[in-house]
Amino acid sequence: MKYDRIHNFAAGPAVLPLSVVEKLAEQLPNLKGTGIGLMEISHRSKTFDAVVRSAQARLRRILSIPDDYEILFLQGGASLQFIMAPMNLLERGDKIDFLNTGVWSKKAIKEAALVGDVRVAYDGSVHNFAHVCTDDEYTVRPDAKVLHYTTNNTIYGTEFFRTPKSDGLPLVSDMSSDIASRPVEVGKHHLIYAGAQKNLGPSGVTVVILKKEILERVPSGLPSMLDYRTHVKEQSLFNTPCTIGIYVVDEILGWIEDFGGLEAVARNNEAKAARIYTELDRSDFWKPHAEPESRSRMNITWRIHDPTLEETFLAEAAQAGFSGLKGHRSVGGIRASVYNYCPMESVDALVAFMTDFERRHG
Ligand SMILES: Cc1ncc(COP(=O)(O)O)c(C=O)c1O
Repeated sequence: MKYDRIHNFAAGPAVLPLSVVEKLAEQLPNLKGTGIGLMEISHRSKTFDAVVRSAQARLRRILSIPDDYEILFLQGGASLQFIMAPMNLLERGDKIDFLNTGVWSKKAIKEAALVGDVRVAYDGSVHNFAHVCTDDEYTVRPDAKVLHYTTNNTIYGTEFFRTPKSDGLPLVSDMSSDIASRPVEVGKHHLIYAGAQKNLGPSGVTVVILKKEILERVPSGLPSMLDYRTHVKEQSLFNTPCTIGIYVVDEILGWIEDFGGLEAVARNNEAKAARIYTELDRSDFWKPHAEPESRSRMNITWRIHDPTLEETFLAEAAQAGFSGLKGHRSVGGIRASVYNYCPMESVDALVAFMTDFERRHG
């Protein structure tokens, strides 16, 4: 492959389109003909301001974000949103319900408990998070202020393909690992947040999409940096943002538009994931972790029927030019992350490697 790139299946930061990486390289010494490099230009310059506006406008178009929502580019990752969201949405002691579908939900629950009265409405730990819940598997407290869920469970490889019921509660979602991979019903959420480093660009930028009405009820006394109103007022330029990251997000969004938008991206993701799941279902040699109806199109997780072969699989895969395939310790085994920009070529190469591995070791 060009530049000796190998097949990268990392869970994030993850593979980006080569055309965007090349464009970035071009802009580093001189951004858009200003004579100033991308890493060196002021975030207050007209040129950079236009980048932020373009990224916001593109995200609004691509995700069909209604006009009564704000779009922010913050820092601190999704991990900061685990606490920032409850701080802005709850008064101390207010009730917040959670769908616990994996490690990242648990981390969000732990942080929210610092502010609110947390209840886990659905707990997937009983089946080691092999599926996400259906609407009849949980109830919410009618007097809760928020229901929080994680759309895609990066570690377990499960995903919600519909917006879960919230029975009228404002819905908050961590979409870090599947944002911009398919259309979503933004209007059914009060708040969506996502670290950029899977489907939107490099690490260092966190996208926050929030319904404007939230801003009317933010408790007073929050530190400026942790108050959504600060960032809305200053349009993501309250302090120095991750300028290079926002530039890449804008370029990535341009890539998505050129590709045909989220419907086209979703079809491509479905096709890529289907190739790997077909291989996993072909033989009892493989043991996929996620139950079929919850299978993530972003992170595909599996074990080998004889777990002692997993080390061999990973070692041989590394030798053959595949990277990032080791499963997270909570599941073990193997994980292939096939976000938007993982090329079909890499997926086909992986499937061919798996088929050959099964032939030799099965
Ligand atoms: C679903 C999900 N939420 C949150 C995080 C944490 O994101 P960050 O490292 O941006 O804080 C991750 C990271 O992989 C994730 O996959």
